[in-house]
Amino acid sequence: MSIKNICCIGAGYVGGPTMTMIAAQCADIIVNVVDINEKRIAAWNDSNTDNIPIYEPGLSELVKKTRGKNLFFSTEVDQAIQDADMIFISVNTPTKTYGVGKGMAADLKYIELCARQIAAVATTDKIIVEKSTLPVRTAEALKRILDNTGNGVNFDILSNPEFLAEGTAVSDLLNPDRVLIGGEETDRGRLAQQALVDVYSNWVPKEQILTTNVWSSELSKLTANAFLAQRVSSINALSELCEVTEADVNEVARAIGADSRIGSKFLKASVGFGGSCFQKDILNLVYISKSYGLHEVADYWEQVIIMNDHQKRRFARKIVQTLFNTVSGKKITLLGWAFKKDTNDTRESAAIYVADYLLSEQAELVIYDPKVTEEQVYSDLDYLGTRSEGENRRLVKVLNSPYEAMDKAHAIAVLTEWDEFKTLNWNDIFDSMLKPAFLFDGRSVLDHKKLNAIGFDNYVIGKGPC
Ligand code: NAD
Ligand code: UGA
Repeated sequence: MSIKNICCIGAGYVGGPTMTMIAAQCADIIVNVVDINEKRIAAWNDSNTDNIPIYEPGLSELVKKTRGKNLFFSTEVDQAIQDADMIFISVNTPTKTYGVGKGMAADLKYIELCARQIAAVATTDKIIVEKSTLPVRTAEALKRILDNTGNGVNFDILSNPEFLAEGTAVSDLLNPDRVLIGGEETDRGRLAQQALVDVYSNWVPKEQILTTNVWSSELSKLTANAFLAQRVSSINALSELCEVTEADVNEVARAIGADSRIGSKFLKASVGFGGSCFQKDILNLVYISKSYGLHEVADYWEQVIIMNDHQKRRFARKIVQTLFNTVSGKKITLLGWAFKKDTNDTRESAAIYVADYLLSEQAELVIYDPKVTEEQVYSDLDYLGTRSEGENRRLVKVLNSPYEAMDKAHAIAVLTEWDEFKTLNWNDIFDSMLKPAFLFDGRSVLDHKKLNAIGFDNYVIGKGPC
């Protein structure tokens, strides 16, 4: 079966870039990306592709090449479902904030709504692809909804989780380590699986396209994120030990990472991992394990989150302690608000929690991030609900110039590893600050020997005062 028309429900950080890459690599496939968020779709259709809603290096150029040719963004969900041979579901699956599993389980209401809409609208057979990250065995529930509420057409379900990382989405999609496609072990299931293999084969080498059963594919996605996050928590746990023993966490990471069985990636100590997925996916894994009665398994993975929360709190506490145990009324500048460099995504960013801690100590914060808007910073703080919207606006300023942001500050905290922070004029910044001038580097990105020579009092995560 050859796919001619693809619909993707959800034009977010995964749906948008993934479908742009499919359109760019498969000129004979029409790709319709649909979403209920009108503002988001309008931004994807902005005549200036620099204004698309997601910042990713290389993405705007790719959208420019394909949009209006075989790539379309729209809010006409029903029409796109009707026209498609294959439908990707790429909607959000956040942690539940209510009811059973609150704070742990994945909220599948958006997935279920998609399934019901597809079932109600489809009058021809469809291949349904789970692109969102889902709890293992979700395909079973999807199939029941589709078969029981549909119009008698056939639905084949595949699991095709996405492994792209934000900030490197375009290159990850172009050269993926692997593409994973889980399908039912039936004749129809195998045909559906092959149809999706054929789509990816347009640019991904065949040996990198892994096919498995649906449950292995669903569980592998949660597991991959859990393993990655576990490495960050492991090195962060050691960063605290390094600070009290005068070992240097970067040297330790290099030494252990040189062992080919361990590998060098994902061993960068930090103020804590953020992003929309690591925490949510581990919580989901913990919840699933508990629901099968596997309490030791659940406790093991939960520790990754406990360590991450500790690391964010520890960093914020260090700032307060160093500033003579009080930051009340002091101006502290946060460099970076995004959860990592090269993205405008702030979901679960460590910066939000560090800011919240400092605000609770009555600090006055000034934020500078090259890609995050003032509106987004306030929305992240308001969402926490710790203080009123008025208080957040009174205590927090968001500026477009890093120099203005650091002028007359008592301290600076680096919370995102943006490259531009390395090339700032640190002599001028030091001169403009109140003395003693403190700098807290939560990402170990700056040259602390030079900063020391200028006169800064430095604290670097994993190294301590230096
Ligand atoms: P997102 O919030 O950026 O985008 C989801 C979009 O789906 C939103 O624009 C929302 O309006 C839309 N939507 C929700 N319900 C809808 C409906 N019924 N009809 C039409 N549109 C609807 O989320 P995301 O970051 O793209 O993540 C999507 C999924 O992919 C999640 O399960 C996530 O875990 C997974 N994932 C994310 C990443 C990442 O880097 N962000 C990477 C791999 C996997
Ligand atoms: C992560 C995974 O890397 C992707 O494979 C996966 O598809 C995605 O989650 C998802 O499912 O959403 P992402 O969260 O975009 O991607 O970014 P990462 O590069 O993994 O970074 C996550 C967080 O860990 C960031 O805050 C980053 O700064 C932090 N990190 C990462 C460290 O602190 N140290 C490291 O060594 C690596």
